Amino acid sequence: MRTPIIAGNWKMNKTPKEARELIDALKPLVKAAKATVVVCVPAVDIAEAAKAVRGSNIKVGAQNVHFKASGAYTGELSADMIKAAGASYVIIGHSERRQYFGETDETVNQRVLAAVENGLIPIICVGENKAQREANYTDALVEYQTLIALTGLTPAQVKKVVIAYEPVWAIGTGLTATDEQANETIGVIRKAIARKYGKGVANAVRIQYGGSMKPANVKGLMAQPEIDGGLIGGASLKAEDFAQIVNYEA
Ligand code: PGA
Repeated sequence: MRTPIIAGNWKMNKTPKEARELIDALKPLVKAAKATVVVCVPAVDIAEAAKAVRGSNIKVGAQNVHFKASGAYTGELSADMIKAAGASYVIIGHSERRQYFGETDETVNQRVLAAVENGLIPIICVGENKAQREANYTDALVEYQTLIALTGLTPAQVKKVVIAYEPVWAIGTGLTATDEQANETIGVIRKAIARKYGKGVANAVRIQYGGSMKPANVKGLMAQPEIDGGLIGGASLKAEDFAQIVNYEA
């Protein structure tokens, strides 16, 4: 069976000092968690967060990574640097990166390859916007986004990635996909992986739901058989809320 994974996406929030405070508050609240617990922090917080989580069950993630190993890419960070700063996970292809910073399925794929080659676990975001859902393109779109993102990985590498299905219309809007909608689309993603890499691989990949996940809706979502966790934005910024999501079984 797949171990659930609950990851916070802090987005552009918290200084290093605030990161430490939030992690210190979180540690005792999530110490008995059955799920893998990750906090994806701003890049300047990674080193402090890595120190703060020492001796706990919380892992640190970054929110993006560049695909080149080094060079003249002003403002960018390589997978190697992110790993050295203390992160073990990295969000790739979040819809905000795609929407505001021009990231494409192809660059998402390159970032995934760079992350995996350097031993970072990618949390690959896919999902449709409102117009795409209304036009019934959701399934085709998430299949395409997923398979392009994974291109070039071996089946053994695919097994270890995390995918986050995040309908764009549900992010930061308070709107959540219904439990059934989220389960169904995640099932579509898993079937696409099964067709290309085999059932064994597809059954090992953890696929999260993201988009206004909170203490009030986590139980219903996590009760769905295809949903292996959550990527949480707003509700990950308060220790009590995030801990309630992490401890959804309690
Ligand atoms: P939200 O963000 O939980 O605030 O909707 C989720 C995300 O963007 O990963």
